[in-house]
Amino acid sequence: MIEMSNVFKTFGDNAVLRDFSMKVDEGETLVILGRSGTGKSVTLKHIVGLIQPDKGSIKVDGRSVIGANRKQLSAIRDDVAYLFQSGALVNWMTVRDNVALSLVESRSVPRREIDERVDESLASLGMLEAADRMPADISGGMRKRAALARVLVQGPRAILYDEPTAGLDPIMARTVGELINEVQSSGQRAAIVVTHDLELAFSVATTLALHHEGKLVELAEPDAFKQSQHPVIRSFLDGTVQESGT
Ligand SMILES: Nc1ncnc2c1ncn2[C@@H]1O[C@H](COP(=O)(O)OP(=O)(O)O)[C@@H](O)[C@H]1O
Ligand SMILES: [Mg+2]
Repeated sequence: MIEMSNVFKTFGDNAVLRDFSMKVDEGETLVILGRSGTGKSVTLKHIVGLIQPDKGSIKVDGRSVIGANRKQLSAIRDDVAYLFQSGALVNWMTVRDNVALSLVESRSVPRREIDERVDESLASLGMLEAADRMPADISGGMRKRAALARVLVQGPRAILYDEPTAGLDPIMARTVGELINEVQSSGQRAAIVVTHDLELAFSVATTLALHHEGKLVELAEPDAFKQSQHPVIRSFLDGTVQESGT
């Protein structure tokens, strides 16, 4: 579903992606671990065409992201939802209007269908009862759900989660992991979760990899990853000090 092959990206003299390759299919959750500043967000931004690579190929369902025109890119972005770290809701709109926003703005979906899809998306996350409340009047956990409902309403076939637990307390972080699993089991979607949160990583991954020196090291299933003897993986997994992500 999502495939990056031999991608290079340098900012000035900062080589962030160096012959980077990866592949995620429907039903899979790829977790990309890595310390802060290694290029995890840059990787996700390439997939939705927010950053262009210097070299390499990036495909979503066989469609090239590189060189796509506006229309092609917008079709790709309909399929691949990017859940930003903040996942911020518009404060002066109800939860329902927040979830409807992207569909209203796209102008291609009739109002009645928007209402149906919004209700369906809210219901799937147990948020129907909070639909008419304002973001400030619901809990942090419900705000996360609302942000996810806003992504799901677009009917994405893949979801990119950028540091979904950054800044959350451990209990909320666990809830987010459960949410991701809930969403994954509700449909055959591809997911990429970028994080330095090991507990989250092992609770959602079907495959794990470490982003290190511009590429992925040791793409493996959770058990094999945990047992890896690769020195950089060992030092990451056994490392005591871990800076918070950006
Ligand atoms: N648009 C940009 N212009 C220049 N440098 C950038 C840009 N975006 C990211 N970088 C740099 O690329 C590196 C990787 O950033 P990022 O992908 O955000 O790291 P992280 O793994 O923490 O998500 C960092 O050194 C960052 O400063
Ligand atoms: Mg980042």
